[in-house]
Amino acid sequence: MLGLTPDRTTLDPIEIASRDEIAALQLARLKRTLAHAYENVAHYRAAFAAAGVHPDDLTGLGDLAKFPFTRKSDLRETYPFGMFAVPREKIARIHASSGTTGRPTVVGYTAGDIDNWATVVARSIRASGGRPGDMVHVAYGYGLFTGGLGAHYGAERLGCTVVPMSGGMTERQVQLIEDFRPDIIMVTPSYMLAILDQFRAAGLDPRATSLKVGIFGAEPWTNAMRAEIEDAFDMHAVDIYGLSEVIGPGVANECVETKDGLHIWEDHFYPEVIDPATGDPLPDGELGELVFTSLTKEALPVIRYRTGDLTRLMPGTARSMRRMEKVTGRSDDMIILRGVNVFPTQIEEQILKLAALSPHYLIEIRREGRLDAMTVHVECRPDAADPAARAAASERLHAAVKNLIGISIEARVLDPGAIDRSMGKAKRVVDHRKG
Ligand code: DLL
Repeated sequence: MLGLTPDRTTLDPIEIASRDEIAALQLARLKRTLAHAYENVAHYRAAFAAAGVHPDDLTGLGDLAKFPFTRKSDLRETYPFGMFAVPREKIARIHASSGTTGRPTVVGYTAGDIDNWATVVARSIRASGGRPGDMVHVAYGYGLFTGGLGAHYGAERLGCTVVPMSGGMTERQVQLIEDFRPDIIMVTPSYMLAILDQFRAAGLDPRATSLKVGIFGAEPWTNAMRAEIEDAFDMHAVDIYGLSEVIGPGVANECVETKDGLHIWEDHFYPEVIDPATGDPLPDGELGELVFTSLTKEALPVIRYRTGDLTRLMPGTARSMRRMEKVTGRSDDMIILRGVNVFPTQIEEQILKLAALSPHYLIEIRREGRLDAMTVHVECRPDAADPAARAAASERLHAAVKNLIGISIEARVLDPGAIDRSMGKAKRVVDHRKG
């Protein structure tokens, strides 16, 4: 794989500014954001009043902890446009995330917001190793989902050639990667695996593609999955994070030269990590729920938005801005099985340690009598499809999960291709206990 460390003169100066400069900018922007939200959004006026705080109470960054949290339910209750802080005519674009139940979460952007969004995604692509003139194949879905258009505008901003492929039509994806020879692909890691299958089905060598970098996000994925994809395609696999309520992709991104967690673009998004049970802010380094306050958004300022994502904050390395650890899961993805907390990513790690098993899996949870039971359905690799190899893999997965996670599972090793492929975010868990 190529070394892709960027020339530091090409970075935005704030990416390598001193911590004092970053904090001063954050404080000025935070004051403006609190006043903007308070003056223009009835929800924030009421929520601040109920908490007995006013934007003038913020004189230092630490004062933010006095302000109330914002939750997904606040956006749902003010559906569709009640959280917007500008008149509807000033909204240039709307996106929405479907969620599994109830009303979608609707988010809006002014022209200025779209401009800032393009800037942070361009910065993310550059951190991933992208350069002006590179060709970027965007296989995140276009439409109400923020992935496709968010990636698209950022790649254009950096000066790349964009192929707006969207998700699906996997054979066509492979054909265009072969024919157009893109340098970069932006896609969910799970859909990248489906593209990998298609390369192999077409008899093409995935290691021989033109791709240098994959920028993967929108769902949790492990370092074991990174190794899998990097080896399969002989390219760098870099993590991009974001959420619609905060802006979309491009809130944080790994640097290709370090791959040591995601630098948060702290000049636009102020991060906190809190104890999810008490709401108390945690010191950097401790694991908890990630909370964001937007610093430059006009249409939909968010104050202390609870992401539900679990991570920890760490000091900057390749950039001055703080990093967040790779997100291992969301608080609502956590499976509680007979009192033990388990994330799907922990199962993924164990699967990928076994050479006979593929990264295609689905976790099923049932109640058996009064006890919960988990079955892990996982495909074998094509070269380990004989009954003896499968039985051995099933036993080894069972033992690894028992010893390292502390739960007893049934491991069902299936034929290659037996698990449905995702075209966007993968569904890893089917929980029959719910509904
Ligand atoms: O998934 C935005 C996005 C698009 C990010 C493309 C990256 C690439 P939502 O649909 O609102 O927005 O979902 C946001 O997805 O709260 C996380 O739980 C999860 N997520 C996003 N990126 C990552 C990541 C987009 N890199 C939710 N690792 C977030 C783990 C991620 N989880």
